[in-house]
Amino acid sequence: MTERSFGAISEPLKLLIVNLEIIMRTYRLIAPAKINLYLEIIGDRPDGYHELVMILQSIELGDQIEIRSNGTQTINLHCNHPLVPRNQTNISYRAAQLMVDQFPERFANYGGVDITIDKQIPVAAGLAGGSTDGAAVLLGLNLLWELGLTIPQLQSLGEKLGSDVPFCVRGGTAIATGRGEKLDPIQDLDSLWVVLAKYNNLSVSTPWAYKTYKQQFGHTYINDLTGIQSRSSQLHSGSFVQAISDKDGKKIGQLLQNDLEKVVLPEYPQVAQLKEILQQAGGLGTMMSGSGPTIFTLCQSQSEAETIKKTARQAIQDPNLEFWVTQLSSNGIQVI
Ligand code: C5P
Repeated sequence: MTERSFGAISEPLKLLIVNLEIIMRTYRLIAPAKINLYLEIIGDRPDGYHELVMILQSIELGDQIEIRSNGTQTINLHCNHPLVPRNQTNISYRAAQLMVDQFPERFANYGGVDITIDKQIPVAAGLAGGSTDGAAVLLGLNLLWELGLTIPQLQSLGEKLGSDVPFCVRGGTAIATGRGEKLDPIQDLDSLWVVLAKYNNLSVSTPWAYKTYKQQFGHTYINDLTGIQSRSSQLHSGSFVQAISDKDGKKIGQLLQNDLEKVVLPEYPQVAQLKEILQQAGGLGTMMSGSGPTIFTLCQSQSEAETIKKTARQAIQDPNLEFWVTQLSSNGIQVI
């Protein structure tokens, strides 16, 4: 705790002030969403997950998370979105529980927390909205409980919560392999813009998407470790990463890939149609993010993104279809 001067007041009063300050301490954080510029499924794993080769990219669209010491021994979760659970099924709740389990003496000293999520990222959308909130809780508690954990330490805690959490901690642009938790940050790509589109009455189950992919394409999986490693190093030295380091938006747009489209688009014709409309509307390239159902179009500028959004909105006049225009970002979780 930082040293401070109290002047001529009694010891018990000093202690009371320090304790009150701890109880009243609050951190506010921004938790950015991500899109997948590249998602290739290359194999399955003994732990039931899949071996992936991805390029992940943070975007400016983010949730705001407030973490406040509550002076009790409980974790309370509040959220303005009706579909976000407030209990142990929520990744933010699990993040706080994980910190309690890992650092019981800090929990005993500092007490529980109230976590308030101002949800701006669409839910169950393939944008890592839940994972980034969980990452923010890890960072927030690290500050609140004065733990001094490093980013890699927070990322390895994040692995226990979900495959995207380690990326969300640091954000930016990164190659992700393994389950998605092995990260190699690459050149930032924050000059481009993106239009996101999602039907608010549609969501895709991520386990369903991977399971169906395995049923249909499992025969194409690489089974040996050397093959998996060489596929991952091919991406590191390949044309996509080169296009990113050249900041070649046109090439990046052409190279977008997401294997999960092969199972999600046939099952959700509305999403397939949305992709087609966005593709026809222009931009650098159009793709589904994660297991969907969000479709995004990369753009050179904000005005191009706004024009594409307008064109797509006119082509599909469905009140359930929502759009967002935002910029790619080099940031992970930020304290504000
Ligand atoms: O790790 P996370 O909880 O985000 O994963 C959600 C689900 O997505 C997993 O339960 C699994 O079915 C699938 N998944 C996978 N392989 C990965 C990541 C996720 O099969 N690398």
